[in-house]
Amino acid sequence: MDQVPEDGTVCDVGGGIGYNSMQLHEAHPKLQIILQDLPDTIKQAESEVWPTLCPEAIEKQKV
Ligand SMILES: C[S@@+](CC[C@H](N)C(=O)[O-])C[C@H]1O[C@@H](n2cnc3c(N)ncnc32)[C@H](O)[C@@H]1O
Repeated sequence: MDQVPEDGTVCDVGGGIGYNSMQLHEAHPKLQIILQDLPDTIKQAESEVWPTLCPEAIEKQKV
């Protein structure tokens, strides 16, 4: 992570519902995170998991 600028972009490929991405967001809130996985997993991530556990990342369009 030392090589990534604070306002850079990271793509979490096969990132599941995004628990690792969530930790990354909490440590580096200016990062733009792209969470990539299969459609049903992403649907669950964006409709249930992130709005519940990390709503500010959704509101600020950081993920
Ligand atoms: C072992 S899990 C890892 C999840 C997450 N990276 C973690 O460490 O908790 C592998 C993930 O890869 C996803 N996956 C499998 N095939 C995929 C594909 N063709 N495109 C995108 N994601 C895929 C699965 O849905 C699953 O969420």
